[in-house]
Amino acid sequence: MDLALRGRVAVVTGGSKGIGLAVVRTLLEEGAFVVVASRSGSAGLGDLAGPNLLHVAGDLMDPEFPGELVERAVEAFGGLDILVNNAGGPPPGVVLPRGPFLGGTDTDWQAVFEFNLFAVMRLTRVALPHLVGRGGTIVNVSSSLARQPGTNNYEYAAAKAALSHVSKGLSEEFGPQGVRVNTVSPGVTRTNWWTDEGGVADMFAGAMGVDRDTLLDKTLPEMMRLSTGRFVEPQEVADAIVLLASPRSGSTNGSEFVVDGGMLKEI
Ligand SMILES: NC(=O)c1ccc[n+]([C@@H]2O[C@H](COP(=O)([O-])OP(=O)(O)OC[C@H]3O[C@@H](n4cnc5c(N)ncnc54)[C@H](OP(=O)(O)O)[C@@H]3O)[C@@H](O)[C@H]2O)c1
Repeated sequence: MDLALRGRVAVVTGGSKGIGLAVVRTLLEEGAFVVVASRSGSAGLGDLAGPNLLHVAGDLMDPEFPGELVERAVEAFGGLDILVNNAGGPPPGVVLPRGPFLGGTDTDWQAVFEFNLFAVMRLTRVALPHLVGRGGTIVNVSSSLARQPGTNNYEYAAAKAALSHVSKGLSEEFGPQGVRVNTVSPGVTRTNWWTDEGGVADMFAGAMGVDRDTLLDKTLPEMMRLSTGRFVEPQEVADAIVLLASPRSGSTNGSEFVVDGGMLKEI
């Protein structure tokens, strides 16, 4: 299927690793121009270097950065058609998963909301005027946790729930102006956050007395009742994001695609 993305200009936040990197690779394969925002580059991003790719180094927690990012994108490629708000997760100083409720401080809550919601809103605010009039589109990366209240990760799940909420509102406000806004909510996805030495998988493995591979391939999929029996791959989330970014999804607005291996059981 031709996704009709050739020549379109996309900004992808957090595109140096994990899900974001898979989105960048896929958009480039589809012939788009891609601007990546992250604090540092990466080997994976280096492998994709070429005339259609621009890396803008910066911290999305810095309120000045979104304006600079959009300006660089427009300057380099002549406009903006697609915004993928992918960066998210634990900000510096916050370790996830975490619970119970009384363990979280104001500072933790503020940092998590700053990174997962306020920074996204700031960038969206500066990007939207460029998206209007070009049939632009936004894909926000939320989390299956946004739909599953529980007794841990309160601040992260609440920030992502707010992001999903605002996405729907934006789709209503900007749909009539030709801008579609959709959400992709991944479940547990095999990214560095899980797999890195000393990462979350090691943390769980230590607590449960199993090795990292057993934990990722068997223990957690069973515990989380993943009907696919395995973690989600970053490319599987990226494919949903890129499909939503494509004009082939022209009648999909205000939707949420859940890519979670069947973790959520509700309809
Ligand atoms: N992995 C999962 O299991 C999972 C599950 C549900 C939802 N999600 C969501 O999916 C999205 C992507 O997650 P992921 O696991 O693919 O992430 P990841 O592998 O940890 O990558 C994070 C990306 O964001 C960038 N980043 C981090 N802090 C930044 C900052 N302050 N300013 C600019 N860039 C920053 C990182 O680059 P630098 O470090 O160089 O800045 C990197 O490119 C997130 O929104 C996450 O909440 C993930």
